[in-house]
Amino acid sequence: MKKDFLSVADLTREEFLELMDISSRMKKYPFGTQLKGKTIALLFEKPSTRTRMSFEAGIAQLSGYPMYIDSSSTQISRGELIEDVAKVMEKYVDAICARVSDHRTLELLSKYASVPVISMLSDLEHPCQALADIFTIKERFGKFEGIKLAYIGDGNNVCSSLLLACGITGINISVSTPKGYEPNKRILSKARDFSQKNKSKVSFTNRPTEAAKNADVIYTDVWVSMGEEKENDERMKAFMDFQINKKLARHAKKDFVFMHCLPAHRGLEVTSEIMDGEHSIVWEQAGNRLHVQKALLLRLFNMA
Ligand code: CP
Ligand code: NVA
Repeated sequence: MKKDFLSVADLTREEFLELMDISSRMKKYPFGTQLKGKTIALLFEKPSTRTRMSFEAGIAQLSGYPMYIDSSSTQISRGELIEDVAKVMEKYVDAICARVSDHRTLELLSKYASVPVISMLSDLEHPCQALADIFTIKERFGKFEGIKLAYIGDGNNVCSSLLLACGITGINISVSTPKGYEPNKRILSKARDFSQKNKSKVSFTNRPTEAAKNADVIYTDVWVSMGEEKENDERMKAFMDFQINKKLARHAKKDFVFMHCLPAHRGLEVTSEIMDGEHSIVWEQAGNRLHVQKALLLRLFNMA
């Protein structure tokens, strides 16, 4: 395993699958003393409900100490260099988890701190989310081969990590975004490279109905990510036809599941009917953040 987890692509297929197995064990046996004496920094430049709570709870359940740090209350907000902060943090903590605006901040932390660095989201990816998503799919379907996931919405950080995770595990993924909101080209091509090895498919379309066709999983995320608030009005217009509702879901398989990384905006990217309906597995999905992140920490510490 690499020292850090900044991208889903930091994992090989074998490592990814191994993490899924460790996650199952974590779910079955949630408590332990594996992280006793370990302090893990959780540095946030952006708000969070699930990521903060699942990391804090998970670390506590394994007897470690989660050190929550709101970046705006540190000297970073007064211009202290991330390079310097990284060199200081490694003196106090055993790992650094960070949610940042600019992915380069994660790269600097990774370069200047000798301890493991984990991405808790950046503008580029949300890799811990993708671990939980794939774990949830595995629990639900018992396999990856032949499963079709339709990601419909913004080609954002969540979409990027899902593309890579589907490519690595061999889940077929069809992404549909409005024009101008396509996924990162470099990530799309990396996902295609991975999928070729697994003989799975990565496809892209601007037509949501085409992506949804025969899908086992329909996945969406917010239309306006954190930091994009100024683009709100133009995005509302662009994404209007990309709402996950009953009409669109009719194109999917009868027993499809609906997934969303959350937070969700009912009436925008998804209707209440779908979000709270029988196909939705969003609560299981959010719950699984806990188990996969514990597995990841243990694996990065070579403890599992
Ligand atoms: N899905 C997710 O990362 O949620 P939070 O922003 O609440 O952490
Ligand atoms: N794409 C969203 C994900 C939130 C968990 C954002 O970056 O705000």
